[in-house]
Amino acid sequence: MRSLLIVYHSQSGASAQLAQACFSAAASVAEVEVRLLRAWDAGSADLLAADGLVLVGAENSGSLSGGIKDFLDRTFYPVGESGRVLPYGLLLSAGNDGRGAREQARRILSGYPLTPALEPVICRGEVTTEHRRQAAEMGEAFATGLEMGIF
Ligand SMILES: Cc1cc2nc3c(=O)[nH]c(=O)nc-3n(C[C@H](O)[C@H](O)[C@H](O)COP(=O)(O)O)c2cc1C
Repeated sequence: MRSLLIVYHSQSGASAQLAQACFSAAASVAEVEVRLLRAWDAGSADLLAADGLVLVGAENSGSLSGGIKDFLDRTFYPVGESGRVLPYGLLLSAGNDGRGAREQARRILSGYPLTPALEPVICRGEVTTEHRRQAAEMGEAFATGLEMGIF
């Protein structure tokens, strides 16, 4: 059984809605256990038990939202020392931009034992049906990739 971890941070609920849509779609894939955790509640043990990671957060002041940054800061050494390299996906909620958060995430994650599995997705403005569809697509594609051994 492969395992996908979805970690999210959300202030207004927008990123939480995307994370939930991603989770529901991923959970529909057989042979993959999917866990959805708030960034504040997730730690190194959760990441080390997973075969893949989807990060879901917002752009705040041109940067990655603090909860996601905190999760990455806390897990950096334990995951690095494990010698494992995990595939990751990135799902961002933003008011009207999101590129600053995406670039910061790419920069930070390029120094982690994590490798991009899917193109990052930015959802701008209020969460729409299309945004939920995109989030679900990421969840299903990621879980299917894990199930098939592609990631
Ligand atoms: C303090 C703060 C800073 C923000 N800065 C940006 C920004 O730089 N660029 C942007 O596109 N949206 C920005 N936003 C809007 C959020 O990214 C957007 O509302 C997002 O949907 C919030 O998701 P969340 O509430 O689930 O964390 C900001 C919101 C807050 C509260």
